[in-house]
Formats: sequence, C-alpha cells, structure tokens
Amino acid sequence: MDLLEKLVSLAKRRGFVYQSSEIYGGWEATYDFGPLGAELLRNIRNLWWQEFVHNRPDIVGIDGAIISHPRVWEASGHTESFTDVMVEDLKTHKRYRADHLSNKIEDGMTPEEIDQVIKENKIRSPDGNSLSKAKKFNNLVEVYIGTLENEKTLAYLRGETCQPIFYNYQLIKDSMRMKLPFGIAQIGKAFRNEIKVGPYFFRTREFEQMEIEMFLHPSEADYYFEKFKEWSMSWLKQLGIDENKLRFREQEFKERAHYNKIATDIEYKFPFGWKEFQGIHYRGDWDLSRHGEYSKTDFKYRDDVRNEEYIPHVVEYSIGLNRLMLVLLFDSYSEDDGKVTLKLNPRLSPYKVAVFPLLSNRPRLVDKAHKVFEALKTRFHCAWDSRGNIGKRYASQDEIGTPWCVTVDFDTLKYETVTVRDRDTKLQERVSVDRLQKYFENQLYEN
Ligand code: GAP
Repeated sequence: MDLLEKLVSLAKRRGFVYQSSEIYGGWEATYDFGPLGAELLRNIRNLWWQEFVHNRPDIVGIDGAIISHPRVWEASGHTESFTDVMVEDLKTHKRYRADHLSNKIEDGMTPEEIDQVIKENKIRSPDGNSLSKAKKFNNLVEVYIGTLENEKTLAYLRGETCQPIFYNYQLIKDSMRMKLPFGIAQIGKAFRNEIKVGPYFFRTREFEQMEIEMFLHPSEADYYFEKFKEWSMSWLKQLGIDENKLRFREQEFKERAHYNKIATDIEYKFPFGWKEFQGIHYRGDWDLSRHGEYSKTDFKYRDDVRNEEYIPHVVEYSIGLNRLMLVLLFDSYSEDDGKVTLKLNPRLSPYKVAVFPLLSNRPRLVDKAHKVFEALKTRFHCAWDSRGNIGKRYASQDEIGTPWCVTVDFDTLKYETVTVRDRDTKLQERVSVDRLQKYFENQLYEN
C-alpha cells in the first residue's frame, strides 16, 4: 500500500474522514469529516483565528452568508471569468480539464489555442479516444432559490469566502472604527464546480477557506505582500510542518485568477507531488472598484494622514482549511515496525490526554481513573479507554495523535501518582495527580 492508501484507510477506520453518502455508493469529490476529523479541523480553525485575528489589533473577523445577491458574482467577475477549459472524450463522454490532460496544454490558454495544441500533438483522452473541441466551463455552483416554483431566482454558492468581506467593507470599517491599513478575516465554506477532483480531498467541490483581506494604500502593498508570506510561513512552521516540504512558488501571469496582479503560492510536497495549499495575492483595487461600480457605492477612503482620497487596494492571504488538514495528516504520519503514530502538534491533536485504569475489572482503579478523567476534562479534551491491554491502548492513541496517556495503577491508590506516557518519545514518567493539569498546560502552551 502506498502512503495515500494507508492514510485513506486510517482516516476512515479512526473516524477522521469518510467518503460522503457511502451507503448510496458515495458522492464524487465530497467527504464528511468524522468525530476526530471534526476535532482536528476545529483546532486548526481556532489556532488560525487566534494567531491572525485575536493576536492582531489591525484585523477583525466576520462570518458572512454563503448565498449572497447574484450581482455580487457579476461584480466580482466570477460569472464571466471564473472558468476552466474543458474537453470531452467523444466515446466515454468523460470530461477533463484541458490543462490536466497534457503538459503541452497550459493553464490560461484559450479554447482555440488548446484545439490547435490537441490537433498538432494528436492528444487523445486517457482512454485513448478522440476529444471534443475545447470549451470554457464556469466553476460557480448555481442554486435556485425562492418559494414560488416558477419565480425562483438564480443565485450562486460562494466561489470564494472573501466576497462578503468586500461588499461589507464599509460597514465593517465604520462599525469597528478601523483605519487603513487593516484586515478582515473569515473562515467558511466555498463551492466550486471543479472538472477535475482529487486526489482524495485535495480538490473537492465543497471546501473551507481561511482568508484575510488587508485593505491598504497602494504604496503599502509590497510591504504587506512580503509580510503575509513571512507571517503565514512562520505559522505553518509553528504547527510543526516539515520545512523541507514547504516552498514558495510565484504564479506566472497565465495562471493567475482574473482579480490578481501578483500571486505567490505556498506548496507542500505531497506523495503525489508539489501542490499549492495557500496563496498570497495582490488584488489591487479590483474588488472594491467593481462592487462600487455595480452597486453605485462610493468606496473611496479619506486618508487624513496622507491627505488623499483613494479606493483601498487589497493584499489577500488565503489558505484552504481542508487542504491544510491533508498536509498535516501526511506530514505527521509516521510508521515504525508496522505501528502508526500521528505526530501532530499537541495543540492540533483531537484528544490531548487519554486516561486509562490499569485494569478494567478493579472498581477502585476504575473509580480513581474516572476522578482523574473528570478533573482533566474541564481543561483538555480527554479520551477514556478501559478496553484491552495497556500496550493496545497506547497503540490506539498513537494512531490518532493523542500526545499523552495517563494510567491509573495500584501506586496511584497509595501515592497519588500516575504514569504519563509520551507519544513521541514513548517514555514514561510518574507525575502526582495534583500536578497533572499544570504538567500538561506547560507542555501545551509554554513550549
Ligand atoms: N480568494 C482567493 C482564492 O479563493 P484560490 O487560490 O482559488 O484563491 C485559495 O483558493 C485556497 O483555497 C487554495 O490555496 C486551496 O487551499 C483552497 N482551494 C481552492 N480550491 C479548492 C478545491 N477545489 N478543493 C479544496 N481546496 C481548494
């Protein structure tokens, strides 16, 4: 089994990720996050929010609507330009993103250029059949909304989370009394009708993004662009991701989205190659100018320091939550003698501590272990396990990334101490029950 297969199997077996609607045969490119996956996602969200919103007086966060006025997506340019070029296998009718079919076809080529390349290079489908003419395909997911059957309105599930940030810019600035430069952050779902999906949940049609739009004077764009590269990379390293598997990559002109003037990706070395999972983008004044034009709103900022009036420019930091989770799962997966350990940063681990009674048929041990569990659970998310032997319980917690296991044994009854076993070093230490909370707090928050 290769690493991807091993991870898919572990993630399913241990309640991190399931293929959505499996009992109906599955639904392509859609995944449900199980109990431990939900905990991991929640921990990533909370750490990101803490780092980039709570720790930053110049950034505020919002939670905008998934379905907004359809004009939003016309103004943002998505109804016109949020497209990929698609070709169809004329025999099987399977559809492909043209730039994923052959390295002779590049992202950003027009359908006419692609037809020419296909003809000149005699490119065929992966099943060996002839291909249709290339055509543009819009990635926005349409919804029809309203209560009267024949008066439903066409709207869109948001294709990127940041649009509510742009159309609410003025309200947020005024209600929070922000002055430029300042940022607005959001975490939430986005939807794209992707032609090519996978591998696994790397590219899906429903996913979550964590985004910051930094509003600024155009002369500050270079500074914030570089700073967001630095801040975001440093946060990824704080999470413990292997530095040798992270790199920046500048996007070429033809790869850039219609709203971007400059774009730099951060890529991770997945088992299926270097792939991007976050971007820093300089969007200029594209969004506020277009929303201003389409809604007849004046977005000009009166800058008293510079004594100037201008439409703020935007530097964007955008990272895919689910893609980051996939990075973390691959990066933390380690195998020794057939035994798997997820060496997740303890702050990300679904459970921080697992508590066990040494023997499950000794009521005094079980009672005492319950007391330890009750005391710790007010501070940390704890797991309880009294099945099988201690070795199996350790292995089971290692597989899901629990950093510490606490065993209540006969010495606990005599001396009020427990064994704490470390996931990564496998070392065991005796710690007194009344010091346990401090012991874990120190390791979690002071290291
Ligand atoms: N607002 C800017 C924006 O949406 P993007 O590069 O299209 O930029 C940002 O997306 C991030 O969202 C990507 O770096 C990636 O992590 C995530 N993302 C984009 N499309 C995705 C998909 N189909 N499945 C999973 N994650 C996706």
